[in-house]
Amino acid sequence: MRFDQYRSYHVWDVVIALSVTCVAVEIPLRLVLGDVPALRLIALEGAITLILCLDVFVQWYRPESGRHPATSRSSRVAPARVVWFSIDLLAAIPLRLFLSSTILPLVQLAKLARVAQRMQQWRHHAVHHANILRLVFFAYWLLLTAHWLACGWLALNGNTTLTDQVVVSGFRRYLRALYWSITTLATVGYGDLTPTTDAQIVFTMVVMLLGVAIYGYVIGNVASLLANIDLAKRHYLEHMERLGAFMHYRNIPLILQRRLRDYYAYLWENRLGYDEVSILADLPESLRTEVALFLRRDFIEHAPLFKGASHELVREMALQLHPVVFTPGDYIVRAGQRGRHMYFISRGTVEVLAPDGHTVLATLTDSDEFPFFGEHALLFSQPRNASIRAVDYCDLYTLDKDAFDHVLAQYPDFAAEIKEEAEKRNPHPTTA
Ligand code: CMP
Repeated sequence: MRFDQYRSYHVWDVVIALSVTCVAVEIPLRLVLGDVPALRLIALEGAITLILCLDVFVQWYRPESGRHPATSRSSRVAPARVVWFSIDLLAAIPLRLFLSSTILPLVQLAKLARVAQRMQQWRHHAVHHANILRLVFFAYWLLLTAHWLACGWLALNGNTTLTDQVVVSGFRRYLRALYWSITTLATVGYGDLTPTTDAQIVFTMVVMLLGVAIYGYVIGNVASLLANIDLAKRHYLEHMERLGAFMHYRNIPLILQRRLRDYYAYLWENRLGYDEVSILADLPESLRTEVALFLRRDFIEHAPLFKGASHELVREMALQLHPVVFTPGDYIVRAGQRGRHMYFISRGTVEVLAPDGHTVLATLTDSDEFPFFGEHALLFSQPRNASIRAVDYCDLYTLDKDAFDHVLAQYPDFAAEIKEEAEKRNPHPTTA
């Protein structure tokens, strides 16, 4: 399904949720209050009926969520689809217009199952605000329940007369019934509206029990919901606390402590603490390629080295590159050591130091035409011919020797460019 199609389905779902909510509010209210003039909004009724009728077709032809449209419609109709179809059809018949004095139209409330289903999907798809949505949906169901209980109270001819008033109009009776249901549900129970008949007493007890259960749910969940709203930040802070305790316990020198803290702060600010490699490793091959391409596209698109590179090479590089971060002053490679990796600079500046450790041979940055180093040792199977030191925070990508050999064998043009630059940097390499 295309993105804009997803969007239109989302908008349509919101319209359906609003329409069904109107129906869920109106049917029980009409039933207990009789024909209430204020609710005779014929145009709205007609629009809702039309929308619900249209929804029968929309839902039937809609590709199932999470499935490819091509595979979602098979010749055999799944039983679940038939059940959903019946619910949609039932809700589309405007029973409430013709049979408003019987309880029959209440069956149309089954359509609320659709709303619940969509809410669950929205929560799964909402990457950033899933917890806030959970709170909003909880408030929705709570208000709807309070409304139904108020209607139940009215149906049982519950007392809606406050001490010094004689209430006559339907709206005011409803308002007081709602007041009763909310005070009882919230376990406040002022006792100004009290049950008198046996049925009312039983009903009140059930609502009180429900109130206690909801109260428990709220206390138990809302605190954890609020705590989880910024889960990534909480993880980061926990991690920093553990790190602090560890450094204190092992007497790590203060300067090193500062560097460690700075390193994690840098990671947090730039990557929100997410470990790209482990997230990618969890994904299936096809998704991993797409996500890796997306994550590294900035680097690959902007590095002059990859200008005009074939799509295959870009894909290969996106998959094989691994991100690493170095802090200012870190030695990334040391002269004389054996090399297993080559590095591409995504962000930052490094200094190339001669084997004496002092002479700066060159400075490489992400905006260079050839923003890489460490190729020499891999190309010529020689020890590193220079040391590389990070000048500031450096976001690098590494390519290990196997991947390097593979890429060079597969893409001779790219290999030639790297070799040419390697020879320019070190004119007389002794081949192993
Ligand atoms: P390698 O020998 O694997 O490790 C050290 C790296 O420093 C080397 O590969 C080159 O990539 C890089 N290097 C060495 N000399 C220079 C130079 N003069 N200019 C830029 N980079 C260099």
